[in-house]
Amino acid sequence: MFHPYPKIGILGGGQLGKMLCQAAADWHLDVAVLDPTPDAPAARLCSEFVVGDFRDYDTVLVFGAKADLLTVEIEQVNVRALYELERMGKIVHPAPRALEVIQDKGRQKAFYAENDIPTAAFELFDGEEALLQAIRSGRWRLPLVQKTRTAGYDGRGVAVLRTPEDLETKLLRGPCLAEEYVPLRAEVAVIAARNAADEVAVFPPVEMDFHPEANLVEMLFCPARLSPFEAAEAEALAERVIRAFDLCGLLAVEMFLTQEGRLLVNEVAPRPHNSGHHTIEAAATSQFQQHLRAITNLPLGDTTLRMPAAMLNVLGAPGHRGPVQYEGVEALLAEPGVYLHLYGKQTTAPFRKMGHITVTAPTLDEVLAKARRVRDRVRVISRPE
Ligand SMILES: Nc1ncnc2c1ncn2[C@@H]1O[C@H](COP(=O)(O)OP(=O)(O)OP(=O)(O)O)[C@@H](O)[C@H]1O
Ligand SMILES: [Mg+2]
Repeated sequence: MFHPYPKIGILGGGQLGKMLCQAAADWHLDVAVLDPTPDAPAARLCSEFVVGDFRDYDTVLVFGAKADLLTVEIEQVNVRALYELERMGKIVHPAPRALEVIQDKGRQKAFYAENDIPTAAFELFDGEEALLQAIRSGRWRLPLVQKTRTAGYDGRGVAVLRTPEDLETKLLRGPCLAEEYVPLRAEVAVIAARNAADEVAVFPPVEMDFHPEANLVEMLFCPARLSPFEAAEAEALAERVIRAFDLCGLLAVEMFLTQEGRLLVNEVAPRPHNSGHHTIEAAATSQFQQHLRAITNLPLGDTTLRMPAAMLNVLGAPGHRGPVQYEGVEALLAEPGVYLHLYGKQTTAPFRKMGHITVTAPTLDEVLAKARRVRDRVRVISRPE
C-alpha cells in the first residue's frame, strides 16, 4: 500500500538534498533535512530544516526519532545512530551496514574482493610509513595511486604517485590504501536503484571527463562512448554491485574502462550522484525521483534516456573567494536546450561546486559541441566588497 505521507528525514542539505526535496514536492512528501549550515541549499525547500551535525550521534538520533524513514545525501554520517534508529523500528535506506563499508575506502575495496567484483589490485596500509616501506622493499612500484581510507571526496584523498619526488611532496598521511595505477580508456558511472521488493533498475552509463587541475569531474555525458556490449556489461555490473550491498535506494557505481576494455569498479556512492544530474531533463525518470521511489518501495521509474545530454559543473573560478556573483547567465539562458541549476551557496571558492548546467541536443556530437561552447559562459566570481 502506498503510504502517501511517510515522514522522510534526509541527512545532509547540500545540492543533492535540495534536488531530492524538489522531487519530493511532486508528491507532496513531508521531508525534514538535517545540515550544520543554516542556509544550506535544501533549507528553503523542505518542510522542516534542522540545523545540526549529521556526524553527531545524539543529533542524528533526535532528528531520526521524528521521522518514519531516513535517508542520506552524503556518506559521512553517524552510522551508529542509524543502527540505533533501525532498532527503534525506523526504516533506514541505504542500510547502515552498507554505509559503514562504503565510508571506508579500505573496507569498500575489501568488499569488492570478497564479492568477486572486479576492482584495481590494492593493499591496505596502517599509515604512509608502511606504504613507503612496501615501495622500498619493491613490493609496490611506481606509478601507484594512494588513497586515504576515510574523509576523501572530490579527489582530495587521492594522490597519484609517479616519481620518487612525489613520495616527498604528494604522499598523504594516515591509514591508506595503495592501488595499481590503471591506464584508462574511459571513466563511466552507472546509477542503479533497488527497492525493498528487490526490483532493480539502472540508468544508461554516463562518461566522465575530468578537470585536470581540480581532479573534479568537469563534464559528463550520456550515452557514454561504449560499445553496446560494454554498455550492457557496465549495467549488469552495477546491478551486481547494488545487490551485493543489499541496499535500497540509489547506488552510483563509478567504473574504469581499462585500455584493454575491462570494467573495474572504482568506488560507489549510496545516494544521488553528480553523474545523474542530467536525468532531470534527459531521462524518463530523474535520479532524485528514482531514489524516492526506491526508498519508499514504489515501482522503480523508467530509466530510458530521452535524448543525449551533457552535464557541466559550475565551479568557482580560481582566485575568487567570498560572496558569490555569476557572470554570463543571461546569454546562457538565451540558448535552447540549456538548463541552469544554481545551488544557492552564498560564498564561492576555487573549484567549489556552485551549480550545474545540463545541455541536450538530438545527437551526442551536437551535445558535446554545444557543451564546449557554453562551458565557460558562466563565470563564478566573488563580489568586490
Ligand atoms: N587506480 C587508479 N588508476 C588510475 N586513475 C585513478 C585510480 N584511482 C583513481 N584514479 C583517478 O582519480 C579520480 C578520483 O579517484 P576516486 O574516485 O577514488 O576519488 P574521490 O576523491 O572519491 O573522487 P570523487 O569524490 O571525485 O568521486 C578517479 O576518478 C580517476 O580519475
Ligand atoms: Mg570518485
